Amino acid sequence: MAPQRRGNAKNSDHSAIERKIKRGHAQRQASTWSGLRGYMLVLMPVVACCSVGWLYLSLESDVTETLVRHGEVLQQPRVFGVPCSEDYNNYKRYPGCTPQRCGRAVTDSVVTREEAQVLRRLAERGLSLGGSEGGASILDLHSGALSMGKQFVNIYRYFGEQIRGIFSEEDFHLYREVRSRIQNVIADTFGLDSSHMYLTKPTFFSRINSTAAKTTHDEYWHPHIDKETYGSFDYTSLLYLSDYEIDFGGGRFIFMDADGNRTVEPRVARVSFFSSGSENLHRVEKVGWGTRYAITVSFTCDPAHAIDDPALL
Ligand SMILES: *[C@@H]1O[C@H](CO)[C@@H](O)[C@H](O)[C@H]1NC(C)=O
Ligand SMILES: *[C@@H]1O[C@H](CO)[C@@H](O)[C@H](O)[C@H]1NC(C)=O
Repeated sequence: MAPQRRGNAKNSDHSAIERKIKRGHAQRQASTWSGLRGYMLVLMPVVACCSVGWLYLSLESDVTETLVRHGEVLQQPRVFGVPCSEDYNNYKRYPGCTPQRCGRAVTDSVVTREEAQVLRRLAERGLSLGGSEGGASILDLHSGALSMGKQFVNIYRYFGEQIRGIFSEEDFHLYREVRSRIQNVIADTFGLDSSHMYLTKPTFFSRINSTAAKTTHDEYWHPHIDKETYGSFDYTSLLYLSDYEIDFGGGRFIFMDADGNRTVEPRVARVSFFSSGSENLHRVEKVGWGTRYAITVSFTCDPAHAIDDPALL
């Protein structure tokens, strides 16, 4: 689900991202990918003829540990340290930001459920303008990229002034507010100076349902490393806007560690964040039913990759 950048002028930029995705995957997940592909090929006929319940059982068995369950409410971040990978050595180091400590954390106290519901309605309105033919659609408020059929359009260009009837100043204000709180909790958790962290692209809303993928953009479930997929990422965060097993089934977030798969069950207003290097190889479990909404908010330490908060132009 790599959102495409604005228009033709940036096509080269987009294909550079695509190449990076492919190279990253080829290098790091060669075995995982082919393993997974094979696994899916084996599963496909079974799914076609047998019950969906069987599929859940087989996916369930890949999860060795649940880090945070849907029903829990975390008042403080629950933090899981992991040794940093060497990925960061390939980049300039920025004191106060470049990961010295790595890991993952989950908290339910940064965003209220009411705020998450407002953002969810914003996502619903925005995504209702388009939507992928496959099961995974994105809306990137910064670049304007919106899934449409088998491709992307730029909402700001495509809908022009009409956008003002769909997104309000308050929506963008809330987005900025939430982004800033997430930035602060990441800084506190990893001992960073939040003024040395910058929002980076892509940062987007996602909507996933069980409809089969039509293009590779719909294939959200592949294992990947954010720093390899998007070089600028240093910290990735996810704000969930739907409840696991209430709004949708499957769709859990899975950290794929050498010694086991560890999952976070999405919950409305839950924020999950992690250092973006290969210490945090991850994937999203396939959504089996319902619709899963989330926002990805990513940060870089490199001011050259900073982007402004999305705003109504
Ligand atoms: C999933 O979403 C797509 C739009 O992105 C829609 O066409 C499709 O009907 C939805 N599928 C289900 C099962 O709701
Ligand atoms: C983690 O999950 C993947 C596929 O989802 C599976 O191939 C792998 O064996 C699992 N790892 C462990 C240690 O269970």
